[in-house]
Amino acid sequence: MNGSRASQGATIRFDRVTFAYTPGGRPAVSDLSLEIRPGESVVIVGPSGSGKSTVLKLLDALVLPQEGHVLVDGIDTRDQERLWDIRRRVGLIFQNPDNQLVSTTVEREIAFGMENLGLQRSEIARRIEEVTERLGLGKLLSRPPHKLSGGEKQRVAVAAVLAMRPACLALDEPTSLLDWQGRREIWSILRAVGDEPSRTVLHVTQFPDEVALGSRALVIAGGELVFDGTPTELFAGAGRAARWGLRSPATMTVAESLRGAGYSVPEGIPSLEDLVDAVARGAEGRAT
Ligand SMILES: Nc1ncnc2c1ncn2[C@@H]1O[C@H](COP(=O)(O)OP(=O)(O)OP(=O)(O)O)[C@@H](O)[C@H]1O
Ligand SMILES: [Mg+2]
Repeated sequence: MNGSRASQGATIRFDRVTFAYTPGGRPAVSDLSLEIRPGESVVIVGPSGSGKSTVLKLLDALVLPQEGHVLVDGIDTRDQERLWDIRRRVGLIFQNPDNQLVSTTVEREIAFGMENLGLQRSEIARRIEEVTERLGLGKLLSRPPHKLSGGEKQRVAVAAVLAMRPACLALDEPTSLLDWQGRREIWSILRAVGDEPSRTVLHVTQFPDEVALGSRALVIAGGELVFDGTPTELFAGAGRAARWGLRSPATMTVAESLRGAGYSVPEGIPSLEDLVDAVARGAEGRAT
């Protein structure tokens, strides 16, 4: 192994998992079964309070199922002696970055997880440089994380986990505090990471436009898995996604209007570039 990439993505299995925060209370996750293979890039959506964050906490053994099993590469999260093996494989980015950032400077924060992995100083320095550039954190390295804006904290949290190169990257609404430009930067990182066959990605989002970042979409509603398919299938036809309160991605709505105006736009969930192409082609068509 050259140390620069995770050697292979993790396999995740939820086997009839039920979990309630108060034992005997209403389950936050109910009889959930799921298998995610190495290298898959999965986006999880669903209404607020439906159990999405709880699924990621179960994955990272922050909470343990009352019924059923969560397995990461075959390791049961209930096996306390293997906790480190699970945490080493799963890099979790919390919904609220305040719960994640513990160090006195951004640079120390990014180094912290890598030090726990026992990486050499030269490798740590190299990776800090890489993620700093990738996430535009250069000016923040010596700042205390708790004094940063919400969006800056979110970028630092993403950088710290990316630098550890976990086999499974689990992100809980990583763009919720970012502006449009910041979101687009994280999107390009998620696309690149999602394309790596060596990485399993689970990405919880509230933004329909982010569903197309994954190759597989899951919908969790009322603690249950109610949809498992491709992003295009989720938004195909009228009403299916709306049943769970999900709007169509904005690019689909724009594509619909463009089609109505006679432009030819690809079916499915078009990218912004697809829309620009369609408009450019249409304009050329009229000009000739
Ligand atoms: N620490 C906790 N103690 C008690 N109940 C909790 C706790 N965290 C979450 N819950 C409850 O468990 C259920 C699922 O919560 P969860 O945070 O997993 O939802 P979510 O889908 O991530 O919501 P959101 O989109 O708002 O982040 C909700 O009913 C919530 O109120
Ligand atoms: Mg949540």
